[in-house]
Amino acid sequence: MNPPVSVGIAGYGYWGPNLARNFRSLPGARVAAVCDPDPERLERMRRSLPEVAAFRDCGEMLAAGGIDALAIATPVASHHALARAALLAGRHVLVEKPMAASVAQCEDLIRTADAAGLTLMVGHTYLYSEAVRKITEIIGSGEIGEVRYINCQRLNLGLFQTDINVAWDLAPHDLSIILRVMGSLPETVNCQGNAHVHPEIEDVTNISLKFAGGRFATIQSSWLEPRKVRQMTFVGTRGMIVFDDLEPHGKIRVHDVRVDCPPHYDNFAEFQYSYHYGECRIPHLDQGEPLGRMCAHFIDCVAGAAVPDSPAATGLEVVRVLEACDASLKQGGGAVSMDPRPCPALAGLAAAV
Ligand SMILES: NC(=O)c1ccc[n+]([C@@H]2O[C@H](COP(=O)([O-])OP(=O)(O)OC[C@H]3O[C@@H](n4cnc5c(N)ncnc54)[C@H](O)[C@@H]3O)[C@@H](O)[C@H]2O)c1
Repeated sequence: MNPPVSVGIAGYGYWGPNLARNFRSLPGARVAAVCDPDPERLERMRRSLPEVAAFRDCGEMLAAGGIDALAIATPVASHHALARAALLAGRHVLVEKPMAASVAQCEDLIRTADAAGLTLMVGHTYLYSEAVRKITEIIGSGEIGEVRYINCQRLNLGLFQTDINVAWDLAPHDLSIILRVMGSLPETVNCQGNAHVHPEIEDVTNISLKFAGGRFATIQSSWLEPRKVRQMTFVGTRGMIVFDDLEPHGKIRVHDVRVDCPPHYDNFAEFQYSYHYGECRIPHLDQGEPLGRMCAHFIDCVAGAAVPDSPAATGLEVVRVLEACDASLKQGGGAVSMDPRPCPALAGLAAAV
């Protein structure tokens, strides 16, 4: 049996402890070190994980040796520098979403990982959720026909970030799922938003994505909402799926509902929509924490037993759309054109599910 993969964790704020907990639960992994420049957070880590080495600086942690892989849960502004340093030091990398602060940074990390032959995976956790896997499976089976429209709402109060707007914070989850289902980048991106609390950092955004063939997706992201909402609706030509991630039971409902237009009509008086109301079914989902599956999968990738389900190519395409959102925001929401080429990694994955 191979020795466990030793993982170092950069960033022990809100998300880092979740990564530590999940890696520690895996027989094939051990958390060897944590780094965070914040002394209070490092002290909290020391109290709960006294056997784990603590560092104020990631460079010192890498230089100390003893870790095979680095998991990065720091603010996005630091993702590129930390991931690059780890890859150049010969460590595999799991970097939280969004992968980096720009397309150029993502491309640089991909080149660096490829040159070193190391795993570079992005923490698009939703792609490891049983609900999203089931949705992809149902769509792949043709049960709801061709997906024409996806609507997403991800709303709550805070947590306010100071270096990125709400689209960069929350929309990566929706984008990772949308791009996988649509199998390509959009043709155009529109993004409107407003900053109500912190000047120049939009705390509410509305994104519209137009895909080839008249398909469409919308994403509403907000840090200014008293309720927590995590909903997506997938509208197909034959049926619809509603995904409510906050439902403890019945996260996914598959509705046999559609609206048909009459194939031929000569004048408006003859035109009648046909509304079909059928059954609604609630597929069974296996329990389990998506983050746990993601961490286990990363360890398999490091061990050479798998290739990432959320590879760097996925992280890059998500950041490409986020950059287009920024460009649109600057123009007050005007359409920004993108190269709508297929996302090979995403389309390939969708087919493989
Ligand atoms: N996949 C998910 O569902 C999910 C959920 C929450 C957060 N995240 C991601 O995790 C990352 C961190 O988010 P958070 O909410 O934990 O932020 P946070 O601000 O709560 O914590 C970040 C921590 O990183 C530390 N840090 C800053 N610079 C550092 C450096 N150079 N080296 C080491 N540590 C450094 C900070 O001191 C802080 O303790 C973000 O990319 C975020 O998008 C992902």
